[in-house]
Amino acid sequence: VRIGIVGGGQLGRMLGLAGVPLGMRLTVLDPAPDAPAAAVADHIVAEYEDEAALEELARASDIVTYECENVPVDAARSLARSVPVHPPPNALAASQDRLVEKAAFERAGIPVGAYAPAENEDEVRGALERVGVPAVVKARRFGYDGKGQAMVRSVEEVAPAWRAVARPAIVEARVPFDRELSILGVRAAGGELRCYPLVENRHRDGILRRSVSPAPRVTVDLQAQAERHLRRVADDLEYVGVLAIELFEVDGGLLGNEMAPRVHNSGHWTIEGSQTSQFENHLRAVAGLPLGSTAPRGVAAMLNLIGTVPDADQILAVPGAHLHLYGKSPRRGRKLGHVTLVADDHGDLQARIERVAALVH
Ligand SMILES: Nc1ncnc2c1ncn2[C@@H]1O[C@H](COP(=O)(O)OP(=O)(O)OP(=O)(O)O)[C@@H](O)[C@H]1O
Ligand SMILES: [Mg+2]
Repeated sequence: VRIGIVGGGQLGRMLGLAGVPLGMRLTVLDPAPDAPAAAVADHIVAEYEDEAALEELARASDIVTYECENVPVDAARSLARSVPVHPPPNALAASQDRLVEKAAFERAGIPVGAYAPAENEDEVRGALERVGVPAVVKARRFGYDGKGQAMVRSVEEVAPAWRAVARPAIVEARVPFDRELSILGVRAAGGELRCYPLVENRHRDGILRRSVSPAPRVTVDLQAQAERHLRRVADDLEYVGVLAIELFEVDGGLLGNEMAPRVHNSGHWTIEGSQTSQFENHLRAVAGLPLGSTAPRGVAAMLNLIGTVPDADQILAVPGAHLHLYGKSPRRGRKLGHVTLVADDHGDLQARIERVAALVH
């Protein structure tokens, strides 16, 4: 099978690494000549909007998928006229606009924190009356890793927050969450759905730092609640592939934060920590192959390498450690790789996390 991927970042690279053993031939479309996925796939160097490049990708592929949710929906729809595209472009559209996304969650019966749209500074003030303070002003489109967001703790902070965002926005109540979780699932075209165990995620400065799965202290009910949420969204969108939903746990309940219509950073642990990785399962789903087991192998953690890469010798000396480097040049705040740790239980895992965290800072 020939798989085309719009986007050639680290997610495309890890999809490629999962596709090669399945005998898949991968082609990525990415404007960066040094795109991480180029190490494992044919590479069309062009913008996502480039019509000729999209046609070339369609010709080189039996199925097209994407690894980046900022692919223009029009590009995905135009591809879909000549080649099957999974997940459906509608899922892309729903996840690109935080306002549409929140509405999709509500339609699927997923509770969300208070929110209101705002197009200018005055509307931010109006929105605050509805959602309260503290609040977060977020650009509706094209945010990632906490970019395009500003916290508002009082009315005085509205003006600077608006200056920082300065485009159509959503104002969200700051949720006093107990912790952040994510649920990842893979849905086949026929509707079969398999979910991974809930992941506990820690962020700093809006960037994911660390994930642990199965998340500790998760009841059967909480896992079932998360899986119900994911199923509703995935069924509504007639989704095919891996879907991730970021959640806030508050008083034993779950609120939806955002979704990603693609493989997700909080699922990188599945490469070593699960029977079937998210990357393999995504490819199986989009190619119409049977889904693989999402059962964990022991417990796993993932630590992102942000801005700098630690010494490989020291990382790999930690039992259960695996190093993944994306081949990107170092830059402040940039995700350059990750370390996965596997262990038999949470006690051992925690000790290993501390060893790696001390090397990663
Ligand atoms: N309403 C909120 N209440 C409390 N914390 C929030 C809220 N919104 C965002 N955060 C914090 O900021 C982080 C990043 O926000 P969010 O997931 O919305 O943005 P993002 O930039 O799209 O991130 P990414 O795409 O990298 O997941 C969240 O994981 C959470 O830690
Ligand atoms: Mg997020």
